[in-house]
Amino acid sequence: MSVIALLGAGKIGEALLSGLLHGGTSADDLLFTERYPARAAELTEKYGVHGVTVPEAAKRADVLIVAVKPQDIDPVLDELAPLLGPDSLVVSLCAGLPTALYERRLASGVPVVRVMPNTPMLVGEAMSAMSPGKHATAAHLTVVRELLEHVGKVVEVPESQQDAVTALSGSGPAYFFFLVEAMIDAGILLGLPRALSESLIVQSAVGAGKMLAESGEHPVILREAVTSPAGTTINAIRELEKHGVRAALLAAIEAARDRSVELGKAHETP
Ligand SMILES: NC(=O)c1ccc[n+]([C@@H]2O[C@H](COP(=O)([O-])OP(=O)(O)OC[C@H]3O[C@@H](n4cnc5c(N)ncnc54)[C@H](OP(=O)(O)O)[C@@H]3O)[C@@H](O)[C@H]2O)c1
Repeated sequence: MSVIALLGAGKIGEALLSGLLHGGTSADDLLFTERYPARAAELTEKYGVHGVTVPEAAKRADVLIVAVKPQDIDPVLDELAPLLGPDSLVVSLCAGLPTALYERRLASGVPVVRVMPNTPMLVGEAMSAMSPGKHATAAHLTVVRELLEHVGKVVEVPESQQDAVTALSGSGPAYFFFLVEAMIDAGILLGLPRALSESLIVQSAVGAGKMLAESGEHPVILREAVTSPAGTTINAIRELEKHGVRAALLAAIEAARDRSVELGKAHETP
């Protein structure tokens, strides 16, 4: 049985910790690292999992899942570097950090898998895209897939697509939240109480998401099914097209991709 350590148990790290426990991983096979003792104590009390230092995690764990903010990576790599070898597996959840950064900073041959998850991991509905580094094998990818399937869906993509994935599914939940927020405002504009407007839109979003996931139909077909001739929906669609919402989404996601590329450049070899 592998011991798994979460390096950084913030929002994403805690969600994965909780998902792994729910999926049947024993608390004895899990470790986490946290900077503040109070936060570590809170997690131990809640999940029965032990908080350790980064070097201790490196010594005891077979799989090290890095879930610190990208800007906090340097001290973590400094601590890991002398302790990891080819038998360890490093899984990076850090947005924008290339596998090459880990490969450069860690001992030769340490396998690294880069993953872009998203926040629905908090409710077991993450979309995670994983890419192998140059020392990661198919067996390593299977380990990572099995871990992440406890908290959602997993796909494998070439690392060159990770910036696009970051823009699409990494940031994606924010676009849906933005849309829901704007639609709730529309309800207020039409004179509905805020709470009612919120219930109507949130449940519509849940239902639409479920139909997208479960019907197997293309979104165009699903939209056409609620767009009757001379009806209300087509009037709304005309306004969405007139205001360039489709073009705005294309431009927005392209801008997110460009920013991801820019952030990644900060970690290229000088
Ligand atoms: N949130 C998202 O939507 C999302 C989506 C995809 C990927 N990610 C990636 O997931 C990673 C984690 O994001 P998050 O939102 O969970 O961030 P977060 O809530 O800030 O969690 C990071 C945790 O790591 C801890 N930490 C930092 N340096 C440490 C060290 N040297 N040793 C031990 N613990 C340390 C932090 O402690 P302190 O509180 O002391 O700083 C914090 O609890 C990021 O790299 C992010 O790019 C996030």
